[in-house]
Amino acid sequence: MKLWGGRFSKDLTTDTEGFTESIEVDSRMVLHDIWGSEAHAIMLAKQQIISIEDLEPIITWLNRAKEDFLTGNFQLKPELEDVHMNVETYLIEGAGREYGGKLHTARSRNDQVLVDARLYIREQLLTTHELLSQLIMTFLNIAREHFRTVMPGYTHTQHAQPITLAFWATAYASMFLRDLERLERAYERVNVNPLGSCALAGTSLPTDRQVTTKLLGFASTQEHALDIISARDFITETLFALSQMMANFSRIAEEIVYWSTYEFHMLTLDDAYALGSSIMPQKKNPCVAELTRGRVGHVYGNLLDMLTTLKGLPMGYNRDLQEDKPPLWAAFDTTQACANILTGTLCTAHFHTDRMAELVSANFSTATELANYLVQERHLAFRECHEIVGDVVGRLVQSDKDFRDLEATHSLLSEHGIDMDIETLTDVLDPISAIERNQSLGGTSPAEVERMEAISRECLQTTDIRRKTAQEDIERARQLTDQITNAVRSKQLDQAQQLIDEL
Ligand code: ARG
Repeated sequence: MKLWGGRFSKDLTTDTEGFTESIEVDSRMVLHDIWGSEAHAIMLAKQQIISIEDLEPIITWLNRAKEDFLTGNFQLKPELEDVHMNVETYLIEGAGREYGGKLHTARSRNDQVLVDARLYIREQLLTTHELLSQLIMTFLNIAREHFRTVMPGYTHTQHAQPITLAFWATAYASMFLRDLERLERAYERVNVNPLGSCALAGTSLPTDRQVTTKLLGFASTQEHALDIISARDFITETLFALSQMMANFSRIAEEIVYWSTYEFHMLTLDDAYALGSSIMPQKKNPCVAELTRGRVGHVYGNLLDMLTTLKGLPMGYNRDLQEDKPPLWAAFDTTQACANILTGTLCTAHFHTDRMAELVSANFSTATELANYLVQERHLAFRECHEIVGDVVGRLVQSDKDFRDLEATHSLLSEHGIDMDIETLTDVLDPISAIERNQSLGGTSPAEVERMEAISRECLQTTDIRRKTAQEDIERARQLTDQITNAVRSKQLDQAQQLIDEL
């Protein structure tokens, strides 16, 4: 007999059961479902909807469910449909219907599933936040070593202007810090209490929704019952934050792939983060980066999956909403694995700074600098300077030369009426001097990059503090609930009543 079986006169077919159950997905939320139930039962007792004597067997059996689950002795049964029915059935079988049957007063699976999911997602967001924060720290550590390591900066994957490896690494840190912020915003959206909305309309029983908000450590109570049980935008927003992060992962993954080619040779992967070939003995393949790049599509798919589930759903709970969890769970798994492996890959990778220096000098990356010099020193219009330098570059290319041939460069400039002494020309065309000169706000000069690196480090520290505060808030709420449940279980009902009155 199903807990909802009163109006039915037949069992479900095995197919119907199999089609509708959500045990595998729900299995991640068992402890969350129990915590939500403890908080709800305590609230019912505080509001005298159930008595403190009723509370005792409920709390005792919920605690047994938790212990059994943690020791592998409480396995969810598919025929009981979902985690909620499994926990409630466990309770009713243990405590008897007389007591266990009271837990679901003023509660629906519609608000219950949202509590479970929000509690679980909260944790997952914090884990993802921590993993991303470690990746950002890796970039900042690379930056610290390389404020004066020059390399080509690229546009269109063509040499553009000299930059430093620190400038490149801090760009990734800066970008990923925004992803970290997006996780925090998603967390705020997730960390609100839906419990007490019931099926869709609230309840005529005298509940106090603030009590469960406090016991579950939510930042606030979500109000509109019908909106709450219908909405899943907190899931699409989280999926977007993860998708954007994966898009950004794919960019560093791509650079790892081609920087480690024979042709680029700017980076060598540690042997622990590269794979070999079954036939070609010489191969060392960047499979970790390629798989990161390859898994991005899964997470975009997860986002689109969820958006599509929501499209056209009428207001109210619809069973389609059960499909919200598989894409989000999968997206968390993928994103966390990628963040973790990228950190390992990057902190063990070897950067070839000689090769970077060689490349940056070889291919006219200081042409813009030469044009800027002419603007500043000769007071020519930039377009004029662009044309002169363009002509010099074109003719050097024709004769298979580059700026390293100072004599040839000098004489081509003279043809345009520009006479520069070799010493000045050397300095203008030197990538390191070019970097030192780029002192505009946010530019490549070591002073600017050191400043930005320090700011990013500070930012990271404050986000780490915010994450720890969030973890402590959860822990504190858990302890508050435990304090009450421990008093109830040890039958110190007066003490329990006093703690409940203080809520
Ligand atoms: N497994 C369901 C879900 O994830 C739980 C809520 C069921 N609600 C209902 N009215 N049948 O959405």
